[in-house]
Amino acid sequence: MRFKIIFFVLSILLNHSQSDNPLQCSQEDFNLSNYPECLSESSCILRNLNTSNVYAIDRAIHEFKCLIFVDSFVPEIPSNIFMTLKSNISHLYANNVSINELRRISFPFAQKLKCVDLSQNLIQNLNEMIFYDAPNLVSLNLSHNSIGEFSSNVFDKLDSLQVLDMSYNQITTIPFDLFLPLNNLVELNLRYNRLQLKFGIFPENLHSLDLSYNNLEIQQKFKIFSLLQNLTMLLLHGNRIESMHQSIYNSQLRFLGLSENLFSCNILADIILAMKVHKIVPLVENSVKHTSNIYGIKCIE
Ligand SMILES: *[C@@H]1O[C@H](CO)[C@@H](O)[C@H](O)[C@H]1NC(C)=O
Ligand SMILES: *[C@@H]1O[C@H](CO)[C@@H](O)[C@H](O)[C@H]1NC(C)=O
Ligand SMILES: *[C@@H]1O[C@H](CO)[C@@H](O)[C@H](O)[C@H]1NC(C)=O
Ligand SMILES: *[C@@H]1O[C@H](CO)[C@@H](O)[C@H](O)[C@H]1NC(C)=O
Ligand SMILES: *[C@@H]1O[C@H](CO)[C@@H](O)[C@H](O)[C@H]1NC(C)=O
Ligand SMILES: *[C@@H]1O[C@H](CO)[C@@H](O)[C@H](O)[C@H]1NC(C)=O
Repeated sequence: MRFKIIFFVLSILLNHSQSDNPLQCSQEDFNLSNYPECLSESSCILRNLNTSNVYAIDRAIHEFKCLIFVDSFVPEIPSNIFMTLKSNISHLYANNVSINELRRISFPFAQKLKCVDLSQNLIQNLNEMIFYDAPNLVSLNLSHNSIGEFSSNVFDKLDSLQVLDMSYNQITTIPFDLFLPLNNLVELNLRYNRLQLKFGIFPENLHSLDLSYNNLEIQQKFKIFSLLQNLTMLLLHGNRIESMHQSIYNSQLRFLGLSENLFSCNILADIILAMKVHKIVPLVENSVKHTSNIYGIKCIE
């Protein structure tokens, strides 16, 4: 609460001193089709935001549902953008704007906030309490950052979160309790990290898990996936897997991605046959030709 009050006073002071020339929303020359979530909503596009004009944002932004930062330089999320209980902002896109730190309570009073996309920034750490005042978040995109460290309670309160994208980061280990508060998480993307697998790190109700391109050698640990009883899609492309455990076929799985691993062709043939019997569809990525393969999945003779 103390933080909120300090931010609040600060933002009033700063707003006041610069309110002569507020930074306006614009929609000219902007192609919203890259932001499908915003097509049917009222949208505010803010351009040329930087550290010196960030507190001069027009208060009218609170009317809009979709807020998009473009061609801007904002190392921190400006705390004044949600600084009113009446703010209607439900979608925030701040991509490639050099965000390098997320403070405690980065989204004050953000009760209506549902989707936050901070992909393509410079975030390295996820500290505690960042999302404390945004309890209704449904989707969070932190892909294409440099995240390597977490506070284990960073996701506390995100009981509504369904989709979490942390692909293209520097994650090597996941704290055991990290995902514990995410009771409703169904889609988790950890593609292109450096992850180690451990029992007890994935939330139980996941439907879709992408662990492609992580250099995992996980044949001994396949039971981790069988324990995820609602998992229907598992992507393991680009790892160093040589064989598959029986338990995978007796799960709910419907889609399995195994391209670019270290299977011998005999073993891969057995895997594909077992998948057919259990009606699991192989998903192929970077399909190969002119070399040993089964359905475009590379294998070793
Ligand atoms: C907007 O972008 C989409 C896909 O990126 C493209 O198909 C469409 O033609 C563009 N529209 C305009 C008006 O430029
Ligand atoms: C911030 O942006 C404004 C408006 O585009 C510009 O006039 C100002 O020079 C910029 N300040 C810095 C520090 O880049
Ligand atoms: C948010 O939307 C509601 C209902 O459409 C409206 O009454 C309210 O004025 C809006 N808030 C702001 C800050 O514009
Ligand atoms: C990110 O922004 C920089 C300039 O701020 C620009 O040069 C670069 O092309 C942008 N990258 C992407 C992927 O849009
Ligand atoms: C997250 O952002 C990246 C890059 O901006 C995009 O490719 C990806 O589809 C987004 N993920 C989700 C779940 O929307
Ligand atoms: C799996 O899904 C079913 C039906 O959607 C649900 O009742 C059950 O709680 C889920 N199981 C887990 C472990 O989340």
